[in-house]
Amino acid sequence: MTSSPKVDWDYTKLAATYTQRPPYAARAVDRIVEACGQSQPKVADIGAGNAHLTVELLARGCVVDAVEPNDAMRSIGIERTDGGAVTWHVGVGEDTGLPAGGYDLVTFGSSFAVTDRPVALRETARILRRPGWFACLWNHRDLDDPLQRDIEALIRRRIPDYGYGLRREDQAPVIEESGLFEPPTVIREPILHRVNVEDWLAAWRSHGILERQAGAEFDSILTDIDRYVHALGVDEIDVPYVTVGWLAAVRGS
Ligand SMILES: C[S@@+](CC[C@H](N)C(=O)[O-])C[C@H]1O[C@@H](n2cnc3c(N)ncnc32)[C@H](O)[C@@H]1O
Repeated sequence: MTSSPKVDWDYTKLAATYTQRPPYAARAVDRIVEACGQSQPKVADIGAGNAHLTVELLARGCVVDAVEPNDAMRSIGIERTDGGAVTWHVGVGEDTGLPAGGYDLVTFGSSFAVTDRPVALRETARILRRPGWFACLWNHRDLDDPLQRDIEALIRRRIPDYGYGLRREDQAPVIEESGLFEPPTVIREPILHRVNVEDWLAAWRSHGILERQAGAEFDSILTDIDRYVHALGVDEIDVPYVTVGWLAAVRGS
């Protein structure tokens, strides 16, 4: 695929601030890569975007084919992984353009929910070797933390039925219903990020789910959050996250 495919989730406007988003818990990425049982697994990283997960895979010895439909996200990803064992491709999870049976591991870092998941799972099973592994993961903010609770309240004041959709749902049913994978292992690894307030506020500007649901209210919500956080009068805040993932062996392994 050479020209950018049309996708339902357009990250063009979010790309510039996306790199400020927190990294995944190291232990979660370790567990996914260790499942391959190899020192240099061949990995297809789908919806690789700005390379948030790709850089972690490269740091663990993986040889990566990164697939990303969006030009703005991909160009940041290419820059961030310059010199690494990675080749970038234009494509989508439903049609990667990658060779059949070529990969030990196929990863979706915060990108599984933006695909047509059953179709993406079929494509994943096609490009995996036997044995081979599928993994999808996200960073969930701990919404029980007092600061995060207040921010949720600010959002809900303008979007009363705000929801996180598929990214906070159990992915096991769709994986099992595909009939292509063994029952998945769930990964939950907590991680506390001490972040610079300005970086954290910038990261909100790359929040695809909020942008999509807020519509014309997006800027007002960001202003509410900016005001609230600045009123705390601190330069840094602690933000608790849990990296949540599903790891499944392809059938026939
Ligand atoms: C939330 S970002 C995740 C970026 C990165 N993988 C990470 O771990 O942070 C989702 C990415 O999926 C891409 N995307 C959108 N639709 C897609 C599709 N159908 N297949 C694969 N990727 C898609 C977006 O362009 C975006 O770069």
